[in-house]
Amino acid sequence: MNRINNRVAVVTGGAAGIGSAVCRFLARDGADVAIWDWNTDNAEAVAEEIRGYGRRAMICKVNVANQADVLAAAKKVHNELGPVGILVNNAAISPEKDFVEISEEDWDRVFDINLKGTFFCTQAVINDMIDNQWGRVVNISSSSAQSGARRMVHYAATKGGVIAFTKALAQEVAPLGITVNNVPPSTVYTDGLKSVESRFPNGLQGYVDSTIPVKRVGQPEDIANAVAFLASEDSGFITGVTLSVNGGRYML
Ligand SMILES: NC(=O)c1ccc[n+]([C@@H]2O[C@H](COP(=O)([O-])OP(=O)(O)OC[C@H]3O[C@@H](n4cnc5c(N)ncnc54)[C@H](O)[C@@H]3O)[C@@H](O)[C@H]2O)c1
Repeated sequence: MNRINNRVAVVTGGAAGIGSAVCRFLARDGADVAIWDWNTDNAEAVAEEIRGYGRRAMICKVNVANQADVLAAAKKVHNELGPVGILVNNAAISPEKDFVEISEEDWDRVFDINLKGTFFCTQAVINDMIDNQWGRVVNISSSSAQSGARRMVHYAATKGGVIAFTKALAQEVAPLGITVNNVPPSTVYTDGLKSVESRFPNGLQGYVDSTIPVKRVGQPEDIANAVAFLASEDSGFITGVTLSVNGGRYML
């Protein structure tokens, strides 16, 4: 368990997958949590889990690529929960397509959500962190930006951008008490991976056996553990890093 002293956290894409585990772990460690997601079907269940830890929860229906949505949600969180201290930029889409088939529309959509959304959400809450001279921004990138990933050129390019964004912003805001780090997951067993499970020629376990030294898929909680540490009081001397959580698939 990490120490989080009653901070207010925003988790984008917090209603499902990795994001929902991050919400649980941040609440467990002492944060009130606002879930920002454009699909809120499952958000109330996550909010209940947050409240189960004795913390406040808020659900905001937000498309992170829409700046008006993001600004309205930031205002609501500030007014009702208090100044934001922790932001986890997790919402993303992960399209796959042969490179020659990627259209301008495909390219813009994944950049708007994965990279521009990260920009919008961070800019919307960072003044709260600056005012308090304390903040933690944790961006969820992807091992695809480290190792490359066939049929995901557009997606991998956004996640490479997220890593560069992390380092550049970390340099700028470090003197203000704000850290900015990123966690690139790999092969985490969420709905996205489940939906493509049948495409592995030797099954998912065959893929795992040949590519992941620890010989298992990741679970959302594996990523949430790393995020909760980087969001905690104890990680203040760590900034600009890429904390790979991937069972050893890509070592950097
Ligand atoms: N699962 C993996 O193996 C894996 C691997 C590498 C990177 N990642 C990254 O981890 C993060 C979470 O992945 P996941 O597998 O949990 O995904 P997921 O699809 O299970 O969940 C993503 C959540 O984000 C929300 N979301 C998507 N676009 C949004 C938008 N425009 N505005 C608001 N909410 C939006 C979805 O509604 C959903 O709740 C993503 O950044 C993804 O790129 C995942």
